[in-house]
Amino acid sequence: MSDPAASVASPSVRPADSCVMVICGAGGDLTKRKLLPALCNLAGAGLLSKQFAIVGFSRGARSDDEFRRQLTQDIQTYATAPVDPELWKWFLKRIYYHGGDFKDASVYEKLADRLAELDREHGTQGNFLYYLATAPEFFGEIVSRLHAVGLTREEHGLWRRVIVEKPFGRDLESAKSLNAELRHCLDEKQIYRIDHYLGKETVQNILVFRFSNGIFEPIWNRRYIDHVQITLAETVGVERRGSYYEQYGALRDMVPNHLFQLVSLTAMEPPVSFRADAVRDEQAKVLHAIQPPSPEKVLRTTLRGQYGEGMVAGALVPAYRAEPRVSPSSNTETFVALKLTLDNWRWADVPFYLRTGKRLTRRYTEIAIQFRRAPLILFRDTPVDRLRRNRLVLRIAPDEGISLRFGAKIPGPVMNIGAVEMNFSYVDYFKTVPNTGYERLLYDAMIGDATLFQRADMLEAGWEVIQPILDVWKALPPRSFPNYAAGGMGPPESDELLRQDGREWRPLDG
Ligand code: BG6
Repeated sequence: MSDPAASVASPSVRPADSCVMVICGAGGDLTKRKLLPALCNLAGAGLLSKQFAIVGFSRGARSDDEFRRQLTQDIQTYATAPVDPELWKWFLKRIYYHGGDFKDASVYEKLADRLAELDREHGTQGNFLYYLATAPEFFGEIVSRLHAVGLTREEHGLWRRVIVEKPFGRDLESAKSLNAELRHCLDEKQIYRIDHYLGKETVQNILVFRFSNGIFEPIWNRRYIDHVQITLAETVGVERRGSYYEQYGALRDMVPNHLFQLVSLTAMEPPVSFRADAVRDEQAKVLHAIQPPSPEKVLRTTLRGQYGEGMVAGALVPAYRAEPRVSPSSNTETFVALKLTLDNWRWADVPFYLRTGKRLTRRYTEIAIQFRRAPLILFRDTPVDRLRRNRLVLRIAPDEGISLRFGAKIPGPVMNIGAVEMNFSYVDYFKTVPNTGYERLLYDAMIGDATLFQRADMLEAGWEVIQPILDVWKALPPRSFPNYAAGGMGPPESDELLRQDGREWRPLDG
C-alpha cells in the first residue's frame, strides 16, 4: 500500500493539517491505550496528514528503535481493530523518541533541534502539537520550557498547540494558577484542555438530540421537567492508580470535568452556531449559573462514600483502603452524590442530582430527564391512584441509546396503566466503528477546532462550585468510611439526598 493515510478519507472530511505530534509522558498508559490506537484509526480513515510524525518525549533513555519496538507490541494489545501491517510500517517511519528530564533546560534545546530536523524531513510545515500526558505537576514546567526555546511561537502561518490532559488543578486556586502559567506562554487559542467525555459520540449527540429535533426543546425547561439525574457508575476500583486517586478522590476526578460537561450540555441554551466559542459561551453560562453551595448546603446536598471489601462479578475484591498505594486509614472518597441548582430562567427549581462511584454493581453512564406528572383528575374514579412520570433517558455508555417512558393502558376491561418504553439503540441504526474516543479530539486539535475542549473560564467556573464542598469535607473528615460494599449500590445515605425532596434515584441495578 503506497499511501495508507490517504486511503479511505470521506470526500467531505479533509485530512488533518500536517504536524509533528510530541507526546510528553509517552512512557505512560495513555499513549499505548488511547493515543496510539486513536492515531491508527485516524490514519486508517485517511484523516491523518501524509506529512506527519510522532515524537515520544519521556524520562529515561531509549533509542528510536527501542521505542518503535515497544509501540509495535503495545498496538497489538490496544488497537480497537487489527492494524493493517502496511499502515503500521507507515507509522514506524514516523515515530521517534526523545529522552530526558522535563526539568532540564538542555533537553528542550535538543528537542528544538530535533523537531526542526524532523519538520524538514517530513514536511510538517513547522506545525507542532504537544500532548501533555505527564503527571500534572509538570504541565506548567513543560510549557514554560517549550516557550523558552521558542517552540510555542506561532509565526508565518504555522501553528503550535498544546493539549492538556486532566486533572486540571486540584482546587480553584491551583486551576487558576495553572491557567495563568499556561497563558503566560500561550494564547488561549493554542490551549486545548481535553476531557475525554467530549470525545464520546453519545455525549456529542446530546446537542444534536436537543437542537436538531423540534419536539424536545419546547419542553426542555422548568415548566415540564421535574428534575434531572445524572449517573456515572463504574464497576472498576482504583486499579493501579492508588497514589493519584489518594490525592484527588471521586469529587475532583469526575465532577468538575466529566459530570459538569454532561450538566452543561444538558442545560445550555441553543448556541448561535457550532463555532467553538459560540458553544463554549453557552456551556460557560450554565456553569456560572450553578450556585456554589454554602457550608450548610454542602452538609444537606452532598454525600461521599468509600467502598469496603465486596463481591464484583463473582469475585471478592479488596476494600479501597487495602488497594495498592492507598493509606490503610484513607479518607479519600470513591463515591459522590450531589444536588445542584441552576439559577437561571430555564432551570429555576429544577434540581440536577449527580452521582458517581467506583466499585458499584453495574457500569453505566446516563442522563435521566424526569418530567412532571400529568394531573390525576381524569382517573379519579378508576383503580389508578398515581400516574408515573414520563422519563427520557440518554444512555451514554455502555448500551448507547435513548429511551422514553410513557404510560399505556393495560389491555382489559378495567382501566389500568402500565409504564412502557420506546427505545432507540445506536447499534440498531448505525454501524458503530470501535474507537477509543480520542480520535475526534486529536483530529479537532490538528485542524484547530476547539469546540470540544474546555476553555479557561469554564474550568474555573466548575471549580468555583466544587471549592466550597472541598472546604467543608476537609474540615469535617468522614466518620463512617468505608460505607458501602464493593459491588453494591453505593452508600445507603445517598438515597436520603433525594428522599428529602420526595424523589428517588433510578435503581443502579435496574
Ligand atoms: C477518568 C477518571 O477521567 O475517567 C477515571 O480519571 C474514570 O477514574 C474514567 O474511571 C471513566 O471514563 P469512562 O470513559 O470509562 O467512563
